[in-house]
Amino acid sequence: MTRVAVCMLGVSLAARVHAQTTADAWRALRVADCARCHGKDYEGLAAPSIVGFARTQSRERFIAAILDGNPPMGMPAYRGNALIENHIDAIHRYFAGRADGSIAASATPGRE
Ligand code: HEC
Repeated sequence: MTRVAVCMLGVSLAARVHAQTTADAWRALRVADCARCHGKDYEGLAAPSIVGFARTQSRERFIAAILDGNPPMGMPAYRGNALIENHIDAIHRYFAGRADGSIAASATPGRE
């Protein structure tokens, strides 16, 4: 196989894996109803914008904010919630994509 063909195969596999994890993340966020506090597109309502947070924070801090929460301030801790814990990397990638513009607010992954 030529190097170009190998490269294209890699890209298409990566795109498929990416689409699937984005759909998983999107569904987990819907089921957990993060939008109830963070707004329809997670850009802020009673609680701050998750998209804005992803834009400025490291992956580690982003994941800790969700798993540890901040119960006194009204952010539940999602550690132990299998739905969120099992998809935490995909959730981080989803918001990193929202923050850099590669995923649109209106995107409904897996339903296109
Ligand atoms: C009951 C309301 C509520 C729900 C539901 C909720 N959050 Fe939050 N969240 C908050 C509040 C309030 C804060 C701000 C806490 C603070 O001031 O430190 C917050 C903070 C955050 C932060 C840190 C943002 C920052 O600027 O400090 C992240 C990331 C986050 N939430 C993600 C999520 C995700 C993902 C979900 C769903 C799995 C979710 N939240 C569900 C209320 C909520």
